[in-house]
Amino acid sequence: MAATSIVLTEFHRKSTSWVKVLEEISSLENKTFSEYQLPPRSFDDELKDKNNALIYLEIDGDLAGYVIYSCSSSLSAVITGLAVKENYRRRGHGEALLKAAIEKCRSKCIHRVSLHVDPLRTPAMNLYKKLGFQIDTFFKGFYSSDQDAYRMYFDLNEM
Ligand SMILES: CC(C)(COP(=O)(O)OP(=O)(O)OC[C@H]1O[C@@H](n2cnc3c(N)ncnc32)[C@H](O)[C@@H]1OP(=O)(O)O)[C@@H](O)C(=O)NCCC(=O)NCCS
Repeated sequence: MAATSIVLTEFHRKSTSWVKVLEEISSLENKTFSEYQLPPRSFDDELKDKNNALIYLEIDGDLAGYVIYSCSSSLSAVITGLAVKENYRRRGHGEALLKAAIEKCRSKCIHRVSLHVDPLRTPAMNLYKKLGFQIDTFFKGFYSSDQDAYRMYFDLNEM
């Protein structure tokens, strides 16, 4: 049996498949976060901003997950999206994506990585806690009147 190919790639518009990659990520994002009334998100527009970056995961050529982050200042970065397709979950890929983004931030001398997460998203909460993220603030009604968020942060000298 052929070995499984697992590849993490940093997004570049130079790649011949960049349009397809963004379409698939958009589709995964919409499916994963359909319960939130979020405004439509254009990854294409976001990634025209040089502060934003995307790392995606392909398993045997199938787009299986992504992490997107924004280096909002020279000192801090924000993870603005993370998802793994349902059929590939619980195999360490979410952790690998998040660690890859953190390492990129470290290489840019970022001091703090933060994110917002719905406290009801237990897998994500557990992943962030496992990697050492701490809860900073609770935001009532962050996503909608009945959908709250924690802001969590991770200081890079701690990993
Ligand atoms: C959160 C998410 C990216 C995790 O991806 P994953 O590939 O399944 O996670 P991993 O296999 O790398 O798991 C890493 C850790 O996360 C936690 N975790 C992941 N899935 C979990 C689950 N179903 N229940 C409890 N903890 C879980 C565990 O701490 C796990 O470590 P362990 O394997 O040592 O127990 C994935 O569940 C997902 O896409 N969820 C929907 C989108 C989402 O919530 N994104 C975050 C928005 S802020």
